[in-house]
Amino acid sequence: MQPHILVTRRIFPETIERLRAHAVVDWHDADTPLSPAELVQRLQGKVAVLGSSTERFDAELLAQCPQLKAVCLLTVGYNNVDLAACAERGVAVSHAPDVLTETTADFGFALMLAAARRVSESEHFLRAGRWGDWSIDLFAGAEVHGRVLGVLGMGRIGQAIARRAHRGFDMPVLYSNRSPLPAQREAELGARWVDRSTLLQQSDHVMVVTPYTPQTHHLVGAAELALMKPTATLTNIARGGVVDDAALAQALSEGRLAAAGLDVFEGEPEVHPALLRCANVVLTPHIASATQGTRRAMCEVAADNLIAALHGQPLPTPVPG
Ligand code: DGY
Repeated sequence: MQPHILVTRRIFPETIERLRAHAVVDWHDADTPLSPAELVQRLQGKVAVLGSSTERFDAELLAQCPQLKAVCLLTVGYNNVDLAACAERGVAVSHAPDVLTETTADFGFALMLAAARRVSESEHFLRAGRWGDWSIDLFAGAEVHGRVLGVLGMGRIGQAIARRAHRGFDMPVLYSNRSPLPAQREAELGARWVDRSTLLQQSDHVMVVTPYTPQTHHLVGAAELALMKPTATLTNIARGGVVDDAALAQALSEGRLAAAGLDVFEGEPEVHPALLRCANVVLTPHIASATQGTRRAMCEVAADNLIAALHGQPLPTPVPG
């Protein structure tokens, strides 16, 4: 008899077909998330789930789903999973690193450039029919090439961003991380390990790429924003909550920061109303990994892990233990 599994989201049909060769698939083929109660109900009798970042797999849920043995996420971030509770109940957890690294780094760069060069602001101006006379400083923005990039969090995506900055844009890179990279890797990336305050004070553009944990909640808040240059930009492609959105909106509206690019928000899909009022922020709906190819690859990695779990094999990409 085939095991029963749940897929919590509309994903690509070819991944579902693959899974159907190994399990009876209950597919929530929709873009609206299951409520916590629906999730618990749909997980009854399921041994594994292919999920995303919008469901919470916490101790309360696990206690109500005793048959669940594997949570396989199609995302790289896993802050929505209580890893300690999973370990206690013997639930294996996987995520999807690597396949989205370069795509997400591309988008981080796109957001930083758009914020620095005022792309959204100027497009709105043009669409509103306000483009009249040429002016010497019309939407004059901040320089990017050759300026200092600060990377908060130097994991896979942080390093892919540093590589772009160093090789493509001649940017000296400062980074802050729990530990420094090996000297050879630093040299390859033109990157120097500094403390967070130095990074914030000296960078012309700051990119936030650190995972969201209780320790990184509001890592960039009012005090940190106050350290930044008023000509600097801040880009967040990590998770909402790493940046204090209210404090950021205040700094942007008071001209204490030139611009920001945000793909992630505290409490998304809600966006802090003060941010919506700021012209100098580029806002996107958590799409840094969204290319056709990468999203397909993320689903396939989740399926690889789930199928391995069903067959009692080691997960190819377990979350770091
Ligand atoms: C990830 O994979 O963690 C991206 O942020 C999409 O949620």
